[in-house]
Amino acid sequence: MTDGAGVSQAVILVGGQGTRMRPLTDTIPKPMLSLMGLPFVERQVHHLQRAGVNRIVFSCGYRPREIEEYFGDGSSRGLEMGYVVDPEPLGTAGAIANAEDLLDPADVFVLNGDILTDLDLAALVAHHRGLGAEATIALTPVDDPSAFGLVRTDADGRVTEFVEKPGPDELIAGEPYRINAGTYVLTPAARAAIPRGEQVSIERDTFPLLAARGGVGALASDCYWRDIGTPGSYLDAHLDVLAGRVAFIASPGEAWVSPDAQVDSSATIGAGACVGPGAVIGPRARAAACVIGAGSALGADAQVDGAVLGRDVIVGDGARVSGLVVAGDGATIAPGAVVTGPESIATGAAAPAG
Ligand code: GTP
Repeated sequence: MTDGAGVSQAVILVGGQGTRMRPLTDTIPKPMLSLMGLPFVERQVHHLQRAGVNRIVFSCGYRPREIEEYFGDGSSRGLEMGYVVDPEPLGTAGAIANAEDLLDPADVFVLNGDILTDLDLAALVAHHRGLGAEATIALTPVDDPSAFGLVRTDADGRVTEFVEKPGPDELIAGEPYRINAGTYVLTPAARAAIPRGEQVSIERDTFPLLAARGGVGALASDCYWRDIGTPGSYLDAHLDVLAGRVAFIASPGEAWVSPDAQVDSSATIGAGACVGPGAVIGPRARAAACVIGAGSALGADAQVDGAVLGRDVIVGDGARVSGLVVAGDGATIAPGAVVTGPESIATGAAAPAG
């Protein structure tokens, strides 16, 4: 990562409800879910700091305390960190406007708090400044844009059109499908276009407004990009880090076991298993391609493959869990049970039910 070309402040949006990630987000905000033992948003802080950012404002809403208690004022890492909290959900642009009093009147990076990417922030700034844009959006390619907002640009990399959830008749044969990658550079003028204290979406309200006056740049990149906002994608993010498909703070290898986990010597930790701090893996148990949250336990002979277990989940002796089974914090899976995903087990619930 090269220097962020003079953008030294950032807002990270961390206030969403994370509804697609339930039940894991019942008890923790999505950006604080762990990735290899660290809160996910640590990776973004690291990425920003390496790009030359020295001030980060977290724009919070849902469960703000966990975030502020973890990061504090940032001084231990040589950063200035501040917090604002939506009085009610303000949407992605309203949440940026809410951070304005903690920002200098200069360009700012804005990051969604749930994106894992190797995006080159300096290149984004260079494109932004080269165009003299009010706002510049990073774009990422997708095979099928129908669930996203398609962004069209001219040859100079200036946005010409946003098409929200395009139907087949709105697609042009042979065009590259590129979507908003959730990383922006915004000038003070772009931020001034956001009404304060109102619910405003940057994707649906602010960018189309700015693009209509020719002020939005967009930079396409093929670098690694993943929205971790669903349990399946969150699991895949772990597998991508283990496979080295994306740079991470440390390179864990083909599986990751927290130094604070207890793994019985007869247990098997297979490829893609991520075992969190305080987890206990019992005799002859097997884990592969799964996330086992802090304090969770696999009983003797239990098998877990493809699941995402929150914190303090108990998998009974001999239980078999396979496919995308998502278990909220404190859930229990009965001894000998066979649970096959896709399946969601609520926070604190027992499976099989009743
Ligand atoms: P879903 O409910 O599953 O769609 O997740 P989400 O609430 O995180 O929404 P989404 O993925 O669209 O949000 C993108 C980023 O913006 C995430 O990092 C959210 O935390 C953040 N975000 C979304 N809405 C708000 C909001 O109203 N206020 C604040 N402060 N942040 C928000």
